[in-house]
Amino acid sequence: MRVGVVREIAPGETRVSVVPAVVPTLKKAGLEVLVEAGAGQLAGYPDAEYIAHGARVADRSEVLQADVLLMVRAAGAGQLPHSDLQQLQPGQLLIAMCDPLGQPDGFRPLAERGLTVFALELMPRITRAQSMDVLSSMATVSGYRAVLLAAMHLPRMFPMLMTAAGTIMPAKVFVVGAGVAGLQAIATARRLGAAVSAYDVRPAVKEQVQSLGAKFVELGLESQEAEDRGGYARKMGEEFYQRQREMMARWVADSDVVITTAMVPGQKAPVLISGQMVSGMRPGSVIVDLAAERGGNCELTQPGKTIQYNGISILGPLNLPAEVPYHASQMYAKNISTFLLHLLDKQGQINLERDDEILRETLVVRNGQIVHPRIQQLLQQAAA
Ligand code: NAI
Repeated sequence: MRVGVVREIAPGETRVSVVPAVVPTLKKAGLEVLVEAGAGQLAGYPDAEYIAHGARVADRSEVLQADVLLMVRAAGAGQLPHSDLQQLQPGQLLIAMCDPLGQPDGFRPLAERGLTVFALELMPRITRAQSMDVLSSMATVSGYRAVLLAAMHLPRMFPMLMTAAGTIMPAKVFVVGAGVAGLQAIATARRLGAAVSAYDVRPAVKEQVQSLGAKFVELGLESQEAEDRGGYARKMGEEFYQRQREMMARWVADSDVVITTAMVPGQKAPVLISGQMVSGMRPGSVIVDLAAERGGNCELTQPGKTIQYNGISILGPLNLPAEVPYHASQMYAKNISTFLLHLLDKQGQINLERDDEILRETLVVRNGQIVHPRIQQLLQQAAA
């Protein structure tokens, strides 16, 4: 079976789905690895390294003929161009991030080509799937990077310094949403010496926040009901968000940096910081809105842009992992290769008949048919 790794074509995408170090693992499982020339260049992995690890470098057309295509982004934001789609054949298998809940339409052209498609974002949050969980890996990179961005935009330093030229007080960082990205943002801001506080609607994260040396802000709104069975936050009503904004205003006003990561899967991000709250911040303060991709947690965020509002910088980055492509690709490659190996049976063949939660949850298109109930439902809703 041949596995193909193409150069990513989404604008600004620098990652690659497979790094040289995982090629031997795939080969050991009996797979041949074809890599498009230059696929890893922007991430810091030259062709020669792939060859040294046992892959074959080929042109795009040949790679697109592989039995299994591994990509970072396929449908959704990474929509494959017509010229690529035309070359795909029924029966080929595609594994990638596809933004299934945000842009379910992206599956249609892939289904029309008769493909079988797995969307890695739908990986269940269960222990045995942790090593395949791309959302966690990429959120880790984003949380780290968000803090560095904030530090570079802030006209202050992060750590407390006692110098002959006087004492410098630590920057105050407030993280809203302490999931995977938020916890990494807390850890990174702490490493830089900031005084960090954080808030999440899920009370379960309080201990995790504290164990990283940050203060957990209690607004009296957190409740077990805010968490669904999968460990994700539930969508709350507008009245709830209104109360949350009122109660958070003081914390936002008192912070030099606010990093927001609050999301509810498949939903527009809740607006937790109003324009009025931004006006209450000190000039020079910075907001990094990691929920920009889903509309943003700050009312003023412009996805993909950095804006100034009354002297406050509001950043709405859309693809922070692509700014750290070497390690983002390394983590992604580990996730996707583990997933591919998980699909193989003892004979080294892909077996879709197995009753397996990981397979069932991630399989969206099977031989040209959209089979995932949630995606079917989203497409029906959009059509109605
Ligand atoms: P996410 O990216 O969907 O959301 C980020 C954070 O925002 C979450 O912590 C969420 O509770 C929070 N949030 C949502 N609405 C909010 C609001 N109004 N105010 C403040 N915060 C709000 O979530 P992420 O980071 O992907 O993970 C969520 C859960 O999944 C966690 O329980 C995490 O421990 C769990 N998880 C489990 C894994 C596994 O078992 N394999 C792997 C990764 C995460």
